[in-house]
Amino acid sequence: MFDVHSHMLPGLDDGAGDAATSLAMARAYVDQGAECVACTPHILPGLYHNTGPQIRQAVADLQAELQGAGIALKIVSGADNHIVPDFAGGLKRGHLLTLADSAYVLVEPPHHIAPHRLEEEFFQILIAGYVPILTHPERLSWIESKYGVIQRLAARGVWMQITSGSLRGSFGARPKYWAERMLGEGLVHLLATDAHNMTSRPPDLLEGRILAGRAIGAQEAQHLVVTRPCGVLANMPPKALPLPHPLLEPLELFENDANGQTSRPGARGSLSQRMRHLFG
Ligand SMILES: [Fe+2]
Repeated sequence: MFDVHSHMLPGLDDGAGDAATSLAMARAYVDQGAECVACTPHILPGLYHNTGPQIRQAVADLQAELQGAGIALKIVSGADNHIVPDFAGGLKRGHLLTLADSAYVLVEPPHHIAPHRLEEEFFQILIAGYVPILTHPERLSWIESKYGVIQRLAARGVWMQITSGSLRGSFGARPKYWAERMLGEGLVHLLATDAHNMTSRPPDLLEGRILAGRAIGAQEAQHLVVTRPCGVLANMPPKALPLPHPLLEPLELFENDANGQTSRPGARGSLSQRMRHLFG
């Protein structure tokens, strides 16, 4: 397995506070069968002033520590890049970082307010030749009112990454609902941990894979944590990778009741619940 979102570098942000925590997180990854993890500290003006060169050095230092401790985990550079003006320019200057120097880049929008020009900003990143990966859309408080933005971004080539803990309910009922709904609608490209420590936000990639498998099947769960993230870190183009697809065609999502009235799914449970009913 491959994790493209992890705050395991020590002391750079609100993730691992020290090297001992980083090593414990690395051991947890290995125990779960993870081969490679992208270290993605926050880059957020005014709060976390990390830069590309600093992160690269921290990755090299931690990789040496892992080797010294006999922990067989490969780590690569990346960043949890909060969206800023001239994002593509920041990538070209090396201030912001893609994942493993690929064309794929984590992009985190504001959590509580959808910027007016959000779609335009993602479009600018796309036309600059990158594949933006919108981090944890299921946890954004504005997804409730602006789901159309998420759907349009996905349709235009923005990848979506949901969080393992959301499927467990660690962030509450709404992120769990949106994570399952987006999985069912074929809008999720990647599952990652966004791990910060060994307690409240642990590396839980295997559990996430199992929970995703229950919702959408083992093969697609494998694509979420193996096929696509491996392709991302190898810089394979999106068209060379299996893309997610809805569990059912849109027309099949509507049902006619006995009176000929058309009803939407949801009245009888979430999409994933209905899928489990159908295929379980
Ligand atoms: Fe993060």
